[in-house]
Order: sequence, then C-alpha cells, then structure tokens
Amino acid sequence: MTQDEQANEPLEFENRHPGKKQMRDEVIAGLMLSQKMIPAKYLYDEKGSILFDQICEVEEYYPTQTEMGILRDNIEEIAELAGPNCLLVEYGSGSGDKTRILLEHLVSPAGYVPIEISKEALLASAKRLTAAYPHICVLPVCADFSQPIKIPSSVNPAGKRLVFFPGSTIGNMLPEEATSFLKRCAKVCGPGGGMLIGVDLKKDTQLLEAAYNDSKGVSAAFALNVLDRFNRELDANFDPQKFGYHSAYNNLEGRIEMGIRSFADQIVKFGHDEIGFAKDEVMFTEFSHKFSLDQWREKANFAGFDITHVWTDAQQLFSVQYMTVQS
Ligand code: AVJ
Repeated sequence: MTQDEQANEPLEFENRHPGKKQMRDEVIAGLMLSQKMIPAKYLYDEKGSILFDQICEVEEYYPTQTEMGILRDNIEEIAELAGPNCLLVEYGSGSGDKTRILLEHLVSPAGYVPIEISKEALLASAKRLTAAYPHICVLPVCADFSQPIKIPSSVNPAGKRLVFFPGSTIGNMLPEEATSFLKRCAKVCGPGGGMLIGVDLKKDTQLLEAAYNDSKGVSAAFALNVLDRFNRELDANFDPQKFGYHSAYNNLEGRIEMGIRSFADQIVKFGHDEIGFAKDEVMFTEFSHKFSLDQWREKANFAGFDITHVWTDAQQLFSVQYMTVQS
C-alpha cells in the first residue's frame, strides 16, 4: 500500500464516546447547580478541537511551546527511562503533535494508545501518525478519561507502560478528581511503569490571564463554541449574541476560571427543559489549576507516585515530570 492508499483506509478504533443522553444528563445536572458549570470535556467537538489547536499557536498561550521545548531538551533521558518496547498510553491526545517527539525517540515501542474524546481529532491524528511512523502499532480509543478505561493490548511484546499526560490537562480536574485519576493511572502504569506528566506552574497573574484571554479572541471562541454544540446536539436555543467569554485567575483556589457570561436575564431551552440565566451570571466551562512544585509533589505522593525527575524551562513557567509507582 502507498501512503496515500493507507491514509484512505478506514481506521479501526474503540468507540466509547459518551452517548447523547449521557451528555445531556451531565450538562443539565451542571446547569442546575447554584454555580452553573459544564464538564470541560464537552468543549471538544470537532470544531472545539480545531479551536484548541489554534489556542496552542497564539502568542500568549505559553504552555504548548514551553512544554515542547522541555520535552525536546530532555528527550534522550526520557527515552532512556521509558526503555525498549514500552507501551505508550496517552490521555487527551488531541493533535498528537507532542507525541511525535516521543515516537521519534522511544526505542521500538510496542504500541501507542491515544485516548481522546473528540472522535474527529482522534482519527485524524491516528491517521497522520500511522502515515509518519508506519512501524508503530497505533490503537486509538475514543473515550472520556474521567471514567476508568480498559487499555487495549498490543500484539507486540510490551516492556514498561508509559502513561503520557501532557499539557497540564490535569489542571482541568478538581483536586479530588485529579487524585482519583492519578490513582487509576498508577494502576495503568503497573509496578515498574511510569507516568510522564505536564504540570503548569504558578506564576504572575497577568501572564496567566493573558494566556487564557488572548488578544485574537481564540480562547473566547473556543469556550463560546460549546453554545453552538448544545444548540445543535442538545436541541438548545442559546443566542450567541447574548453571551460573552469570562476568564480570571482565582488566587485562593490557584486556578484560572473560564466561563460564559450571560449579558441579560434570559431563559434558554434545552429540548423540553428550560434554564434561567441572570444578567452577568457566569456558567463555568473549565478550570485550569496551577501548582507549585511542592504542591504537586505532595499530590502525586498521595496518589501513589514517586517523582523521580522534574524538568522545567529556564523561567520555570511549566514542568514535565516523570513519576514511578510507589512499591
Ligand atoms: C487543555 C486543559 C490543558 O487549561 O491550559 C486553554 C485548556 N482552555 N485555554 C489549559 C485551555 C483555554 C488547557 N488544557
């Protein structure tokens, strides 16, 4: 098969995307809370994943480029830690651009398991990676990783399991959610396995706030896209003109809070249900928690990991950490 023919082959993947009913139930439950909040995972429909990739390219959004720099600068050491034949498991793989850095340096990986909630992003990136690295066995899983997921096994003999969780996506989770997620990751790694995780660090508020409210308005478009999604998929009738983007750093909680602000008192229909919004009320779309190195260590230790390596950039904006399962 030529590369072109291969690119047109239907790609096999495991589809565990939450159904419409589950999405509707979770969204409505979040909108019934006194502080409205929707699960951030629903930001990632096809358009949402494209907008997120655009955020990664805006000037102000430092995490992506900083993390890629840290990975490139330390890739020899990382590949050494992973060892030969590792099974690489990635949560929230998105475009798979960061993964390329690993795939180019790991020694004969047994397989790559990208786990991603956006089916379109998952399939597009799996196709690109298969074309670029035809010798690597790619086993895509479309799923919501806030729930336990069975990891498919590769046909190749596997060495260590390496769980890759870049981007500081861990910051999206509430503290308790992050702890249970990490505990599940420790089980996935197994004894001898490791986790390579991107953890965004506390820093100057202005820098943080600019990163989540860029001057081109991509961060705003990313959040507001969820209104179109709800209109289309959940039979809602949000008027996009009557809502705007909100984001601010909450110093007490150590997190950027992002949401959608209602410009007026209004009622929005969700199929047969109605949800009221007060003027200036904000419904949160996502949080992005920031950590100090000490805070992160404590959290990782509590969840059953030992941190063996911490790499940062010169300005200590972002960190990449290698953690092994406590014996
Ligand atoms: C994908 C969760 C890592 O928190 O930095 C960026 C999401 N949202 N800008 C982050 C996000 C708006 C991002 N994570």
